Amino acid sequence: MNDVKCEDLPRHLAIIMDGNGRWAKMRGLPRLAGHRKGADAVRTIVTSCRERGIKVLTLFAFSSQNWSRPLSEVKGLMTLLYTYIKSETAMILDNGIRLTTIGQLDRIPVFARAAVEELVEASESNSDMTLCLSLSYGGREEIVSMARDIGRMCTNGKLAPEDIDANVVENALWSSELGPVDLMIRTSGELRVSNFLLWSLAYSELYFADCMWPDFDESALDRALQSYVKRQRRFGAVV
Ligand code: IPE
Ligand code: IPE
Ligand code: MG
Repeated sequence: MNDVKCEDLPRHLAIIMDGNGRWAKMRGLPRLAGHRKGADAVRTIVTSCRERGIKVLTLFAFSSQNWSRPLSEVKGLMTLLYTYIKSETAMILDNGIRLTTIGQLDRIPVFARAAVEELVEASESNSDMTLCLSLSYGGREEIVSMARDIGRMCTNGKLAPEDIDANVVENALWSSELGPVDLMIRTSGELRVSNFLLWSLAYSELYFADCMWPDFDESALDRALQSYVKRQRRFGAVV
């Protein structure tokens, strides 16, 4: 990426890290082996994004709908979340990365949640890159929560319905401080959004990689970024 200027890169990159299970299945391994390998890919991609000067990286780690998976897989994913946080604490703090989350964190088991919350607090003043983990996150769930909050403001007399505009909506979303997504990458060849960041994806560029998430490496990331910098974004206007 030496030929690409930092200001041309997406400010906000969001990734649907998909295909861990299929990666494992192709190798005759249990799904959890794929998730473990997927955590290694997270390490690589976080470091690569930090090096390239991406300001916000949002990773879809666990969806609201993923609770419906077998309990053993859910437990394994929660343990991996804990292990990931513990093993990456020094890297995150030393590299000026601020950790944040979106989603229903209160649904995450306390041992993993406490580790996440501790690092969110410890990294609070870092400003070189924001790493946002989507945990028990769903775009529709986020919209429902926003609607409830705005509804409450209206019934409390703090807001008039006719004053609800895009800014009010945005400010009431979990993802409001992250800003719009510039580039959304999904691995595994699936061509869908799967309830990720529904509001913030409005004008995002989409990139679908055929490889499974554990195989998504630095050069795969660079291919996606190269594709992004070549695109012309119009936002509905004539340019
Ligand atoms: C993504 O990989 C990780 C999570 C959803 C937690 P999957 O587990 O969805 O892998 P596939 O899509 O079944 O291959
Ligand atoms: C989206 O992947 C969620 C995450 C990557 C965490 P899924 O594997 O859950 O999505 P579907 O089921 O293929 O739509
Ligand atoms: Mg999947």
